[in-house]
Order: sequence, then C-alpha cells, then structure tokens
Amino acid sequence: MTISDVVEHYKLKDPEHWGAQGYIYLLYSLALATNAQLIYEIGVNGARSTHAFLCAMQITGGQLWSCDVVDYDHRVTDEKLRKHWGFFHTPAAEWRKSLSSQCDIVFIDGHHNYEFVSEDVENFWPFVKKGGLMVLHDTKYMERGPGEVFRELKEQGVEIIDLPTQHGIAVARK
Ligand SMILES: C[S@@+](CC[C@H](N)C(=O)[O-])C[C@H]1O[C@@H](n2cnc3c(N)ncnc32)[C@H](O)[C@@H]1O
Repeated sequence: MTISDVVEHYKLKDPEHWGAQGYIYLLYSLALATNAQLIYEIGVNGARSTHAFLCAMQITGGQLWSCDVVDYDHRVTDEKLRKHWGFFHTPAAEWRKSLSSQCDIVFIDGHHNYEFVSEDVENFWPFVKKGGLMVLHDTKYMERGPGEVFRELKEQGVEIIDLPTQHGIAVARK
C-alpha cells in the first residue's frame, strides 16, 4: 500500500478533503524527511495517521508503535504494512512505563482534554531523541486542549510551529 492508496482508501481525493489529504501527506513526509526508524503514536481510531506513518516506514524500514484505549489492532490489514507495526492496547500513561527506546517522532492524538494532552507531552517528550519531533494534532480544532498546550510549549521556548492543515498540527523539534 502506498500513500496514494491511503488517500484513495479514505476517499480523500476531492478538493473538499484537501485538509485531510494535507494531514496524511504531512505526517508521511515528516517521517520520511527524518528517516524515522521508530515512531510512537498515541491514538489510532480511524488509523489515518497510522497508515500515513506506516507507508513511510515501508520506505525507511522503521517501526511504528501505536497505543489506544480501544483495541484497534484490526485497523491495519495490509500485511506489508503490518510488518512495520506494533499495536498496544493500553492507555498512553501506562504504555510509556514499558518503553525504553528513544524515538524519532512522537505523535500525540489521544484524549484531547488539556490535562491528557499535557500529560502525554510530559510523558513522551523525554523519549524524543535530540533533533527528533513531537507532533500534536487538533491544535485548531480544540483550542482549550492541544491548542493551549501548543501555546505553553511556545512560551517555554520549545522550537515549535503550528500548521493549519486539518484541524491544526503543531510540530516541535527537540
Ligand atoms: C482522534 S482519535 C485518533 C485518530 C487517528 N490518529 C487518525 O488519524 O485517524 C483519538 C484516539 O485516542 C484514543 N485515546 C483516548 N484516550 C487515550 C489514552 N489515554 N491513551 C491512548 N489512546 C487514547 C481514543 O480511543 C481514540 O481512538
């Protein structure tokens, strides 16, 4: 499965879905641009981000590890993509206790309340390797959750930008 197949699969070809296309291509490009070997993803549900990252992992040879409180293991069916995927059916705060490796990208798209997003950032930022990325979704969609966390990180001097692509995506570099 390629990234174009993903756009086709989610029926995002029409102009009305350009924002969603941008979301998928952006995540894919970030993973490729950093030659990511390990990505941690919080929140699978529709698995758009999951598929975007996995298409990049096919090229870099890396691994995407995802967690969710709901068992979404069935969301990825493509066998070639599954070789690059690890799914963990556990809340992010618990999952992080079992992790030890530093990663290239952390993607935070779990529970969107301010408290959860803050906690995810606090828990997972230490796992981002120097020069790696932390990506927050829905910074525009949920101003009080991810949007507020984005503003706090910026005030703290973290190198971070907020992009308008589908519901807002903030990208921080460590
Ligand atoms: C917005 S959806 C993710 C969408 C997905 N990234 C995509 O692009 O299709 C949010 C997901 O976060 C999950 N979630 C909520 N709280 C969580 C937590 N504490 N730990 C892990 N996942 C959580 C929800 O079950 C839901 O599946």
